[in-house]
Amino acid sequence: MGSFSKLAGVDILVTGHTGFTGSWACHWLHRLGARVHGLALKPKTSPNIFDVTGAIDVLASHTIGNINDFTTVRTCVKKHKPKLILHLAAQPLVLESYADPVGTYMTNVQGTVHLLEAARLSEHVSGILCITTDKVYENRSWIHPYRENDRLGGADPYSASKAAAELVIASYRASLPSWGRQMTIDCARGGNIIGGGDWSDNRLIPDFVRATANDAALEIRNPSATRPWQHVLCLIDGYLTLLERMLAAESGPGQAWNFGPDIDDCVPVKSVLDHLAAAWKPAQIVYGKAVQHEAQLLVLDSTKARQTLGWRPRWGLGQTLQATAEWYRSFYQDRSAVAQITLDQIDRYRGV
Ligand SMILES: NC(=O)c1ccc[n+]([C@@H]2O[C@H](COP(=O)([O-])OP(=O)(O)OC[C@H]3O[C@@H](n4cnc5c(N)ncnc54)[C@H](O)[C@@H]3O)[C@@H](O)[C@H]2O)c1
Repeated sequence: MGSFSKLAGVDILVTGHTGFTGSWACHWLHRLGARVHGLALKPKTSPNIFDVTGAIDVLASHTIGNINDFTTVRTCVKKHKPKLILHLAAQPLVLESYADPVGTYMTNVQGTVHLLEAARLSEHVSGILCITTDKVYENRSWIHPYRENDRLGGADPYSASKAAAELVIASYRASLPSWGRQMTIDCARGGNIIGGGDWSDNRLIPDFVRATANDAALEIRNPSATRPWQHVLCLIDGYLTLLERMLAAESGPGQAWNFGPDIDDCVPVKSVLDHLAAAWKPAQIVYGKAVQHEAQLLVLDSTKARQTLGWRPRWGLGQTLQATAEWYRSFYQDRSAVAQITLDQIDRYRGV
């Protein structure tokens, strides 16, 4: 793994910094000596990782604002002059996208346009990494892993909004010469991201955590559904690799990158629940009816990231679930310890 020493002292804007991935990314970047700026809405859940780990304290600036408003985005980029942008802000939930397709498309597509445009207009920005998802691929129900140049699609509004954002990104990338602008615009596609500090609705780990913490039943819709589970730090490791590479001007106009888990870590929901029961405590499970469209497993081929970037997931599923259980266990035993656990896990992942 790179030491990411080139990121020290660099101004980096993280959109979505108040969220699950964003908070972990801010802590890691701060640990590297980067000057971290944030732009996002207020944390949505209570509790939330941003507040419980004191992430505000590691920020050089903290803007609460909506990326659907171009002036907000433009003002933030103009004021803080980031050299690099990690674009995480999104409506990231499939079920919420059925409830609010308009809001999902606004944030995930138009919000991305606003960010790319603000970056284009700022002479300081030299690279943007947009986080999309493995769900951008048209699911062709085949067993082969999907490669970066496979066809995009999306059967639900969330997936389609992220695929649409990828088209916008590709068009910005292709238009840079017409604007006489040099900049890298990469995008990263990962799977089901897990780790401590996620309390979103309708995600397996947060649902498990809420049920066990409240001694309530956990409703599982599809225990045999196989998903590509990954620790949030595996993904952020990939994101930082791409950001650092942008500084060395090795990245050209940019491209798409898959960051998937090892195939052995694509396991059914039921196995994850069994692991968590052993690593923390069992939940009372009730099996409900599957709702709406549940895509069959889609596996990412991450050969490009492995061969070009030297990236690979450093934690397999066992370590991922141990670390996740450790984080929540510590939160429910003594909240004041969880900020330190977060930093310890980052250092453990980095091997320092
Ligand atoms: N968690 C996963 O399993 C997963 C998997 C693949 C891709 N992703 C992608 O990773 C990114 C981060 O996901 P997460 O799980 O950390 O999500 P999260 O819900 O924890 O955080 C989302 C962040 O985006 C911000 N945000 C949402 N709407 C906004 C708006 N209109 N204006 C400004 N900020 C806004 C929120 O305030 C929050 O800071 C998203 O782009 C998501 O699509 C997540």
